[in-house]
Amino acid sequence: MKIWIIWTGYVWLIQAIWLAKLGFDVVSLDIDEKKIEDLKNWIAVIYEPWLKELLAEVKENIKFTTNYKDLNDCEIIFVAVWTPQDKRWRTNKDFIHKASISIKQNLENNDKVIVIKSTVPVGTNKEVSEILGEWFEVVSNPEFLREWKAINDFFEPDRVVVWFWKNVKWKTKEKIRKLYNYFIEKNIPYIETTWETAELIKYAANSFLATKISFINELSQLADKVGADIQELANGIWLDKRIWKSFLNAWLGYGWSCFPKDVKSLIHQFSENGLKGNIIEAVDNTNQNQLNYFLNKIENFYDDLDWKNLLVLWLAFKPDTDDLRESRAIALIQKLQEKGAEVVWYDPLEKARENVRTFYPEINVIDDLQNVDFSKINWIIIATEYESFNDLDWENIFSKISMPVIFDGRNILDKNKIKKIGFIYKKI
Ligand code: UGA
Repeated sequence: MKIWIIWTGYVWLIQAIWLAKLGFDVVSLDIDEKKIEDLKNWIAVIYEPWLKELLAEVKENIKFTTNYKDLNDCEIIFVAVWTPQDKRWRTNKDFIHKASISIKQNLENNDKVIVIKSTVPVGTNKEVSEILGEWFEVVSNPEFLREWKAINDFFEPDRVVVWFWKNVKWKTKEKIRKLYNYFIEKNIPYIETTWETAELIKYAANSFLATKISFINELSQLADKVGADIQELANGIWLDKRIWKSFLNAWLGYGWSCFPKDVKSLIHQFSENGLKGNIIEAVDNTNQNQLNYFLNKIENFYDDLDWKNLLVLWLAFKPDTDDLRESRAIALIQKLQEKGAEVVWYDPLEKARENVRTFYPEINVIDDLQNVDFSKINWIIIATEYESFNDLDWENIFSKISMPVIFDGRNILDKNKIKKIGFIYKKI
């Protein structure tokens, strides 16, 4: 079966590679010529652990192009374009509308199945179907991959959700089942539902995870005030199997555009339907607030930041990714710099450092921690949760650092070990 994937964005490229690995004949299109040129030379244009290796493995089954005309060979066309937020944080559907129009203009009318992979607000599948007309069957199936774990997530998803239009043809259902047969055979839950339900599933899932994060973050502020330990508290609640432990880490708040953008889009979807999403609005506010809480913690340690030299460890929105979008580390540092702090930044991933240099040229990034003159560093701030951070030579750093203070925004360090060395250790 020949499959077409439109847009070689972040998780979508991973999806294309995995479908190729499953033996499907995949063609991936992007209107960005440079990106396609790189991919034709087998350069993985994004960073994800194992992606480069996988791309090399599937060369036989995957092709890249910028030409919509070739689409006619394909039975199933995935539309996986980016749906960013507009200035008021509503979902911008321009890319999805443009892709639909291009399909309509370039394809013959012969029973093609269009699968919408993008995260889209309620009503979008209907709009796409109206743009495309009766010869195209619109099916949508949301994406639950996480960056950094995307490769694993694709082959071992918790569920596959397929959104059908109520009257979808039997033939279309069969095609999609064939596509996902690998998962169906492994008994991974396969949900078929209507457009409206399905459109909300992705927003509800991301917003629920964001709710867990904001809940524990809000509680961390009370815990801090009364002298309770938020990590122990979280352990104490998740041992109840009904609660479950994931996404109960009180950190600096969630980053990257999926949670921030999907939470905000859901708030708009409530209000566009004459309702108020009270919980989800509070989740969003708490997330903004958590960064300020951590900043206050730093500021209150000393009154004036002007003379402080800070080393901030890790920049991306989470470990092993080069993605800086909505990174809490970057938001934190910008606030610190506004207050006059001199900041040196480091991320272990070369690609993340490259991206910082491209998008934030004003930031002082270092390539090797060995090059840091610790005698000039007053504090260290940890902003992204790399476990490997525990393996740094802390005794050596302690012997050189001007002021041995660590603010751990990810509660990642072994508190006892760090305190024993002599550091003043502040966490969330
Ligand atoms: C998220 C969802 O987990 C995926 O299922 C979804 O497909 C994806 O968004 C998407 O919509 O594309 P992702 O944003 O890649 O995936 O990363 P997560 O691992 O979910 O982390 C999101 C943010 O939450 C990160 O900034 C992380 O540091 C933060 N987080 C996570 C916490 O602050 N506390 C936690 O306990 C867990």
